[in-house]
Amino acid sequence: AKLIVNASSGRPIPETLFGIFFEEINHAGAGGIWAELVSNRGFEAGGQNTPSNIAPWSIIGDQSSLTVSTDRSSCFERNKVALRMHVLCDSEGSNICPAGGVGIYNPGFWGMNIEQGKIYMVVLYVRSLGSINVSVSLTSSDGLQILATANIVDSDVSNWTKTEVLLEAKGTNPKSRLQLTTSRKGVIWFDQVSAMPLDTYKGHGFQKELIEMLEEIKPQFIRFPGGCFVEGEWLRNAFRWKESIGPWEERPGHFGDVWMYWTDDGLGYFEFLQLSEDLGARPIWVFNNGISHRDEVDTTTVSPFVQEALDGLEFARGASDSKWGSVRAAMGHPEPFDLKYVAVGNEDCWKKNYRGNYLKFYDAIKRAYPDIKIISNCDGSSYFLDHPADYYDFHIYTSASHLFSMTHQFDHTSRSGPKAFVSEYAVTGKDAGTGSLLAALAEAGFLIGLEKNSDIVEMASYAPLFVNDNDRRWNPDAIVFNSSMHYGTPSYWVQKFFRESSGATLLDANLQTNSSSLVASAITWTNSVDGETYLKIKIVNFGNRHVSLEVSVDGLGLNSQLSGSTKTVLTSSNVMDENSFTDPNKVVPDLSLLENADKDMNIIIAPYSLTSLD
Ligand code: AHR
Repeated sequence: AKLIVNASSGRPIPETLFGIFFEEINHAGAGGIWAELVSNRGFEAGGQNTPSNIAPWSIIGDQSSLTVSTDRSSCFERNKVALRMHVLCDSEGSNICPAGGVGIYNPGFWGMNIEQGKIYMVVLYVRSLGSINVSVSLTSSDGLQILATANIVDSDVSNWTKTEVLLEAKGTNPKSRLQLTTSRKGVIWFDQVSAMPLDTYKGHGFQKELIEMLEEIKPQFIRFPGGCFVEGEWLRNAFRWKESIGPWEERPGHFGDVWMYWTDDGLGYFEFLQLSEDLGARPIWVFNNGISHRDEVDTTTVSPFVQEALDGLEFARGASDSKWGSVRAAMGHPEPFDLKYVAVGNEDCWKKNYRGNYLKFYDAIKRAYPDIKIISNCDGSSYFLDHPADYYDFHIYTSASHLFSMTHQFDHTSRSGPKAFVSEYAVTGKDAGTGSLLAALAEAGFLIGLEKNSDIVEMASYAPLFVNDNDRRWNPDAIVFNSSMHYGTPSYWVQKFFRESSGATLLDANLQTNSSSLVASAITWTNSVDGETYLKIKIVNFGNRHVSLEVSVDGLGLNSQLSGSTKTVLTSSNVMDENSFTDPNKVVPDLSLLENADKDMNIIIAPYSLTSLD
């Protein structure tokens, strides 16, 4: 096979091409990138009616020493449920409390990762008719090993009182829990109990190591917060941005009925905008358009949803003295966020009211914010849209061989009309397992096709991005984690090969082969750190044989340097190989010096591999 690259001619790839899609699925946010350690911090997860279930909170002590219940006495209007603890034992007298006291504990999201030397901020609201002496402790999962502890001693908490405690861990345990215990008789109410590490990504509450995985692939945009999470199974359970902003204590939280778990919505609309800014990625806000999986608002009554979207745009972009801009400013961000893209719903194109509703949103948003780009759910690659849009969503979950063959999917798509946003793609099913090399290589072939068609495809993102291994709602995912460990699947690593593509120049790359298993592309890109321009050639071999590839690069400038060129290969001995917590680096890119780099060279391409020559 022969690949002839012409380095002197090419066309620009959009700055936006490769980004990420974050959905609150698989506990990606709550118990994932949001660093809150307490699960169900406001005791609302069991519902707004009492008595309610307080899980995963549990009780320390037996019925002779305390009773625990919920009531609606909280000082927070939108989340009235509070926990009431009636302590019957004491440190003296006839009913002596057990050693260590009685109380409640929270195991977090399948264990809290507490690390020696790190500092944790515990915030809680407390009320009692008498004086209190409560120990706040981080302990092992059985409560026997105390990693950090402090006492709250107060003589007057007759009104709800906010209390903050800093705890420095004296040991490490990835399965820790937070305990609130006492040995003093009386009635105590607790509400909004939070525990966060002080050290979070840019100090904004995000779990550092997981966000650093995102930094590494340099996403140009973040589509958020879903997915089906935006729609809800029923409208009443859909994500609504106004319920997710303001002081965290006041947020009601909600039960996401598609992925079937409660979120306290500490990771809300503001935090998504903040994360986008922190990563230097363009925010793409997907909002509910009055349609869920099972119910819909008729177009004649959709205007409150339209107003909600307009208010959301004012929250993100309005002046700090505007109605909603001032709420953003009060949250610590007086400057507007750079929100320029919105999607009207998710996968709703074929719903009864979609077009009618969509047009209401489109007209109102374009009138108020003419520069905002609007994304339709209807796939404009297979037919001409019957409504105006700047972009259309294209979602594809399929087998490996099919996705690989879709490297040509956009070759013949009409070049007029809206641009394509491949907002969800992945190999799924048995080819993918929980993240195979085979799936990743098919995706790499598909992405090379998108690069080549980036005059019509302007954005693309893999889905889903994250999975907490304790709650796999969807397989596979790009990044797998638990309380203390994480790794990228091969599909994650493929995305790193494409991180220089956005904003690069796509070169003419003529691949001469009679094999349908080989695809290749070439780009030049400018490194903002050293100002130099680099050549990058990517080749996917989706077949099971070695390929001897002659590579010729024409049109290199006189000052071009080939020494120091590298070769990076993603492959493994078995195409179904996956990474895991025990072997996180089984299928990762392998970087080596490209020996004898020349403008004409012969490269042996490994079977089932993605190779990059830089
Ligand atoms: O990515 C998982 C789900 O797949 C998304 O929520 C939805 O948009 C699609 O069906």
